[in-house]
Amino acid sequence: MRVIVTENYEKLSEVAAGIIAKVIVSKPDAVLGLATGTSPIGTYKKLIEYCENGLLSFAKVKTANLDEYVGLSPSHDQSYHYFMNDNLFDHIDILKDNVRVPDGTGKDLDKNCKDYDAYLEKTPRDLQLLGIGGNGHIGFNEPKTPFGSKTHIVDLTEKTRKDNSRLFKEGETVPEKAITMGISEICQAKKVLLVANGENKADAVYKMVCGPVSEDCPASVLQLHPDAVVVLDKAAAKRLDASVITETL
Ligand code: F6R
Repeated sequence: MRVIVTENYEKLSEVAAGIIAKVIVSKPDAVLGLATGTSPIGTYKKLIEYCENGLLSFAKVKTANLDEYVGLSPSHDQSYHYFMNDNLFDHIDILKDNVRVPDGTGKDLDKNCKDYDAYLEKTPRDLQLLGIGGNGHIGFNEPKTPFGSKTHIVDLTEKTRKDNSRLFKEGETVPEKAITMGISEICQAKKVLLVANGENKADAVYKMVCGPVSEDCPASVLQLHPDAVVVLDKAAAKRLDASVITETL
């Protein structure tokens, strides 16, 4: 696991976007696994900038997102599909036919999960971008999710619903369920890039990097990935000893 510690969120975003851009430049039809949440917003801003400056094109890129709330359609402004359009897809030259977000709507959610598994299987990802939850979750794979899991429906924990409520308007309730890519599928990406900032992530980051590889901290599975890169700001890296840090930028 490569651990890069940066001065601040701006620098973290620049470094993470640089890693993604390199993948696209060396393979213009790369497949990217993408994440929502606040952590990657700066990274997406940088990618938009590179695209606007003509440095990067997403014309042949395909994407597959990690997760989606159950019951929210892509046009719902709290859905992850909407988030992706708003924060990235609407501002770059990607073809909307080339983007996938798990479908949390309809009556047969099991079929939605199987369809997503099949898509991931036939569309191997060159890079998977991740954030990390305060409890070490990746995607919506909460602690105790089996490492072998595939796309599945999850009951969101109170902690995750509370953490995510900050993104909802007053009076709106955070959905109780979500559909998420499984941990085994996250790990199938050739390269995994996890970004984390802020002191509230310091404990989860410590467990991911230094703790035992355990389903108690889903992100700890990345210790076993052959090409995992973790990009942090100083606050998220607060508990890490210098000996586990690969680079400081
Ligand atoms: C989002 C996702 C989640 C987030 C995590 C961190 O698609 O899968 O695992 O990455 O909850 O969220 P933020 O970045 O908002 O702190």
